[in-house]
Amino acid sequence: MQTVDKYIELINRAISSIEYPQNPFGLYEPVKYQLDMGGKRVRPLLAVMACDMFGGNVEEVISPALGLEIFHNFTLLHDDVMDKADIRRGRPTVHKAWCENTAILSGDAMQIIATQKVCEAPARVHKEVLDLYNKTALEICEGQQYDMEFETRDDVTCEEYIEMIRLKTAVLLGCALKMGAIIAGATPKQADDIYKFGENIGLAFQLQDDYLDVYGDAKTFGKKIGGDILNNKKTYMLISALTKAIGKTKERLYALLDANADDDKIAQVTAIYGELGVDKIAREKITEYSQKALAYLVDIPNSEELKFFANSLTERKL
Ligand code: IPE
Ligand code: IPE
Ligand code: MG
Ligand code: MG
Ligand code: MG
Repeated sequence: MQTVDKYIELINRAISSIEYPQNPFGLYEPVKYQLDMGGKRVRPLLAVMACDMFGGNVEEVISPALGLEIFHNFTLLHDDVMDKADIRRGRPTVHKAWCENTAILSGDAMQIIATQKVCEAPARVHKEVLDLYNKTALEICEGQQYDMEFETRDDVTCEEYIEMIRLKTAVLLGCALKMGAIIAGATPKQADDIYKFGENIGLAFQLQDDYLDVYGDAKTFGKKIGGDILNNKKTYMLISALTKAIGKTKERLYALLDANADDDKIAQVTAIYGELGVDKIAREKITEYSQKALAYLVDIPNSEELKFFANSLTERKL
């Protein structure tokens, strides 16, 4: 077992040694830009950690793990178009630095490269790994569709929100861990337990992302603070606020949903969150899912480092 820093080093080395065709430059340059501009590398890290924990050969998981990171970065290219986001990881998003068509097509290319990398999984687990990957990729599209549909609804329930973030975010964390477990030859029960751990930690992870979208520091978070508020994203905080607010506050909040998407809207919605204490409600939910996740690790060997890493994810600032 290695430390998280060592695994990340391994992953970053593998990412920087990926070779892309020279031409067309306009297709591959944004791919490199996106992958080289950093990121926490959470998904490949989870895949590598799981493989190592179950005694697998880490060499065998590297390519599929890179595939998951490339897939994740592809979803970000398209997500930033859908969310009208100009900044990611402190730099202009691909559709801003180039244009929307570039974000679409370079994103498509990334998705294909991602699949090529996942296909490099060992032959003995090829079908199992590919089935898991394809199932997860489609679920992410479903989650992203719900996320967009919820923007224009004001009756989204907490259950619907949790299912939406399970699909758009949590399943990929579960998939990464399960893929590592499968490649290592873990038992089906272990593979399912580690998936459930990942799914629950993934829910906490997206809740934290939504929290940082309001309460993060733009410098470390690398994205625009208040972007979700501008888009009327039905986050746990907004849903809680819509449920908790009464009287004049409720009227103000509903009026704000129709207000211009500007900094004043961000300030006013954030003030209402403060009045209603929904920040605290979100933090409690994050703790709830982190604890739920940890319960799935009881029968998993060598899981100390993973536990430690999972805790760091839900307290992260970026
Ligand atoms: C951002 O993912 C999108 C979400 C699912 C919340 P990350 O927070 O993992 O982004 P990077 O890759 O570290 O930038
Ligand atoms: C992104 O959720 C989920 C996927 C890209 C699949 P967000 O829209 O909250 O992610 P960020 O905040 O832009 O990174
Ligand atoms: Mg989004
Ligand atoms: Mg987004
Ligand atoms: Mg977000």
